[in-house]
Amino acid sequence: MIQIQIINGPNLNLLGIREPETYGTESFEDYFYRLRKEFPNVSIHYFQSNHEGDIIDKLHEIGFEYDGIVLNAGAYTHYSYAIADAIKAIKTPVIEVHISDVYAREDFRKVSVTGENCKKIISGKGLDGYKMAIEELI
Ligand code: DQA
Repeated sequence: MIQIQIINGPNLNLLGIREPETYGTESFEDYFYRLRKEFPNVSIHYFQSNHEGDIIDKLHEIGFEYDGIVLNAGAYTHYSYAIADAIKAIKTPVIEVHISDVYAREDFRKVSVTGENCKKIISGKGLDGYKMAIEELI
């Protein structure tokens, strides 16, 4: 079966509660339940961490085996050269997702250092961006 890993970075454990006007009112766990049902032939795994090193460890762990990675590195997107290097180091293609439209917000969000090494960046499509990323990867 096709193996896809979703990785969510810092503060994304608070989806549904955190700034709902920007990130919506649905928790990722509820969305993930629906998402899995939409891809019955894909094995979709979910990992969330608020820690940069844990995100890098997860990329290393599955990045030579899985078929695709959907990464929302949260604010690390904008400055983590360590995560950017990890994406470059692995074999599995990565698509970067942002729930909000990062290009329509503060200037610091318009820069994505991690996105440089990703196959594509999907921004501003809400939680649907994760589904779009999986469609693209499979
Ligand atoms: C985000 C956008 C980032 O700028 C922000 O730091 C996040 C979430 C998004 O999904 O829109 O934590 O990645």
